[in-house]
Amino acid sequence: MAPPAVTPSAIRARKGGEPIVCLTAYTTPIARLVDQCCDLILVGDSLGMVVYGLPSTLGVTLDMMIAHGQATMRGANQACVVVDLPFGSYEASPEQAFASASRVMVETGCAAVKLEGGETMAPTIRFLTERGIPVMAHIGLRPQAVNTLGGYKVQGRDDASRAQIMADARAVADAGAFSVVIEKTAEDISREITAAIPIPTIGIGASVACDGQILVVDDILGVFQDFRPKFAKPYAAIGQAIGEAVQAYADDVRARRFPGPEHVFLAKKG
Ligand code: KIV
Repeated sequence: MAPPAVTPSAIRARKGGEPIVCLTAYTTPIARLVDQCCDLILVGDSLGMVVYGLPSTLGVTLDMMIAHGQATMRGANQACVVVDLPFGSYEASPEQAFASASRVMVETGCAAVKLEGGETMAPTIRFLTERGIPVMAHIGLRPQAVNTLGGYKVQGRDDASRAQIMADARAVADAGAFSVVIEKTAEDISREITAAIPIPTIGIGASVACDGQILVVDDILGVFQDFRPKFAKPYAAIGQAIGEAVQAYADDVRARRFPGPEHVFLAKKG
C-alpha cells in the first residue's frame, strides 16, 4: 500500500527540523520520479517558460495550471502537491482568489495552492485558509511582479526592501500560510526570516539557512537550456543527452540503419 500523502500540516510541523525537499513537476512521468524523493511537489507557473516557451510566467492561465495539476496528481502518491495560482487569477479580491483556488483544488485534487505576495496578499491568504484552502506564500523575488520589480533582481539589497521582506514574511505567517517560498534574497535576510517566523521557509536562491529548498526540475535536469539562474545547480545534462539521442536517430534514418531487422514485422510465409 502506498504511504499516506504528506499534508500541508505535516509540512508546517517540519519547521526547524530535517530540511524539506521540494521540486517542481508538471507532467505524470516526472511527478512519478520526483514523488519518490521529495516531500513537496510544486506545479509551478514556471511551466509557462520551461514547458510552453513563454517569455515570462505572465501568460499562464488557470486552465493551464489545472491541466498540469491533474497530470502531476496522476504521478504523485506521497508528496504534498501544491499548485500555483497564475497571474490575474487571485489579485483582484479574496473572492476572486477563492473562486480560482477552489477550482484548482476540486479539479486537480491537490493539497494546497501557492500565491505570490506578502503584506498585500495577507488578507487573501487569511480568507482562503479560513475557508479550507491551505496556502503556501511566495515572497522576495515574485516573478509575476517582474514588471514592477524591474527585472529578476536579487531582493533585499537596501534597508527599506529588507524591512519589507521581513514584514511580508511575518504577515503571511500571521495570515495562516503553512509555509513560505523565499526567492532570490541575500543570505542574511532569509536567515533572519527563518529565525523569526513559525512556519517553514522554502528557499530558492535564498541560501541553506531556509527550512527547505525548492528548484525548477527542468533546471536541475539540464532540460531547460535558454538560461540557468545562478541558484539552480545542474544535477544532470538531460538536454544534452536528448540532443545526442535525436542526432543518433536522425543519422540512423538517413543511413537506412533504422529500422533494423529486430524492429520489423515479418509476414508469415505460406
Ligand atoms: O513557478 C515556480 O516554479 C515557482 C518556484 C520556482 C518556487 O514558483
